[in-house]
Amino acid sequence: MKHSPATRVPVVLAVANQKGGVGKTTTAVNLAASLAVLETPTALIDLDPQANASLALGVDHRSGPAHVYDAILGRKRLADLAVATEIEHLALVPSHPDLVAAEVELVGEEDRAGLLSAAIRRGGLDAVVVVIDCPPALGLLTLNALAAAPWVIVPVQCEFYALDGLARLLNTIEAARASLNPGLAVLGMVLTMFDRRNRLSFQVADEVARHFPDLLFSTRIPRNVRLAESPSHGKPAVLFDVQSPGSRAHLELAEEVLARLGLVAPT
Ligand SMILES: Nc1ncnc2c1ncn2[C@@H]1O[C@H](COP(=O)(O)OP(=O)(O)OP(=O)(O)O)[C@@H](O)[C@H]1O
Ligand SMILES: [Mg+2]
Repeated sequence: MKHSPATRVPVVLAVANQKGGVGKTTTAVNLAASLAVLETPTALIDLDPQANASLALGVDHRSGPAHVYDAILGRKRLADLAVATEIEHLALVPSHPDLVAAEVELVGEEDRAGLLSAAIRRGGLDAVVVVIDCPPALGLLTLNALAAAPWVIVPVQCEFYALDGLARLLNTIEAARASLNPGLAVLGMVLTMFDRRNRLSFQVADEVARHFPDLLFSTRIPRNVRLAESPSHGKPAVLFDVQSPGSRAHLELAEEVLARLGLVAPT
């Protein structure tokens, strides 16, 4: 796939679910890395003060003074904050624990939910796809992602109560669509931590497929220890162990995402 710089208005994908620990960061990091491996210039914006995505790509938040909040506040351009990663075509805009202050500090700002969107528009990020890793809350940071993104990807953990909270998330997306971003929609839901030895995983898969037949990606992300280990090495799975089931599943998911976006993966 050839992307000329002139056509580079990035497609923004927000990976969101207010539920904690469902696989947002694992999906965001490994999807972004896989898109890059498929030669799609990609930028990952870490919008979570936990900075897990930054760490998973080997960027220690203590090492750099500038982070995504500087772009949200308009102090820096996203392009100036983006750091290269070990993967060609993948850049990261890191987060920092200080980002937690944004939820309080931005309350008085006019257009406070539109700040990230504005930053992306003026950011000059050299990317075809921008993936945003959202925090586990439906606060101002996630709203900024929903205002910036035409598309939301929802990871659903194959666990008890998997659907719990999904209605609230979809209502929030609908409210954001109505008030902030008329082009907003869910690109898809992806099942995470799928364990074929566990009947519950199949039950959750059936239930999500029944409720959201058009949204569910056919790729399931398996429960795979390599996905849990790779962040501590500062590498996405595709670099840590390309043959692992977790790495292969994310490559497959990236192909499905490109197909749904109408950006066909190169062969
Ligand atoms: N498919 C998987 N197989 C094995 N472990 C996984 C898998 N997906 C995620 N994990 C592990 O589960 C934990 C939670 O995953 P992750 O950090 O991606 O979730 P999250 O939704 O981003 O969490 P938070 O809500 O705190 O941001 C992590 O320790 C991660 O390594
Ligand atoms: Mg996370």
